[in-house]
Amino acid sequence: MIYLNGEYMPIEEARIPVLDRGFIFGDGVYEVIPVYSRKPFRIEEHLSRLEHSLNGIRLENPHSGEEWKSIIHRLIALNEPEDQSLYLHITRGVAKRDHAFPKGVKPTIFMMSNPLVTPSPQTLESGVSAITAEDNRWLRCDIKAISLLPNVLLRQLAIDAGAAETLLFRENLLTEGAASNIFVVSGNTLLAPPKDNLMLPGITYDVVLELAQGQGMPFEVRRISKEEVCSASELLLTSSTREVTPITLLDGKAVGSGKPGPFFARLHDAYQAFKHAVMRRA
Ligand code: PDD
Repeated sequence: MIYLNGEYMPIEEARIPVLDRGFIFGDGVYEVIPVYSRKPFRIEEHLSRLEHSLNGIRLENPHSGEEWKSIIHRLIALNEPEDQSLYLHITRGVAKRDHAFPKGVKPTIFMMSNPLVTPSPQTLESGVSAITAEDNRWLRCDIKAISLLPNVLLRQLAIDAGAAETLLFRENLLTEGAASNIFVVSGNTLLAPPKDNLMLPGITYDVVLELAQGQGMPFEVRRISKEEVCSASELLLTSSTREVTPITLLDGKAVGSGKPGPFFARLHDAYQAFKHAVMRRA
């Protein structure tokens, strides 16, 4: 079951006019919210990032936080899996094709649920491979925009190379992955790029930094050079669906020992424990 403009229906029945600005211009924003045991994880943080994205494209938030939560809870209840991945999508609505913002048009609001597929035990045991590429996206990567063509092309480079993710660099500095944030272990320190306009402020990224702090793990938030990434002892990728995943092969070369390392083990365990504790309290 999906949600479309105030109604709940089977996805086969959902229809969008071809003049929707999401279809014509990619003019919209989205969120992906993981749901564990029917409870949305970090919902306040996802809703505040949604607000940031809407402000970034100058589209008024069509709902209050309470309204969003009630739609989200209803949609979760209407779908079977205990663990879901909720996709929330807002476009500037349906209007005659013209780049300028249309006047008096209602936004299109769409939400769907898919089963949440987190990394398998084998993936966590062996890690995934990644490649590197130049980050050729725009300069507002902090907006979770639905116009994802550069991310799609960059991710496909990884798939074509038999890898799972593409690590992106702007002027030799790490920004993020094509659909994830990246952490680097250098020496005995966890490094994370700063949240700015060059990367999406990941909800999982924030959780990982909070856990590192809580564990007394040495960490630094600063610009990270490509050399540091290529000589890292560990690399991690994070996202709402991939949680904390180790990268063990970069551009065909082993990362550190070539196996998931101790920073990954601690952060992964802490993430799972935190997730379960939050779900019990919610
Ligand atoms: N993507 N950076 C980019 C470019 C992303 O697309 C994502 C997530 C992240 C991680 O953010 P978070 O921890 O809030 O999931 C970072 C989602 C999952 C997607 O597009 O499917």
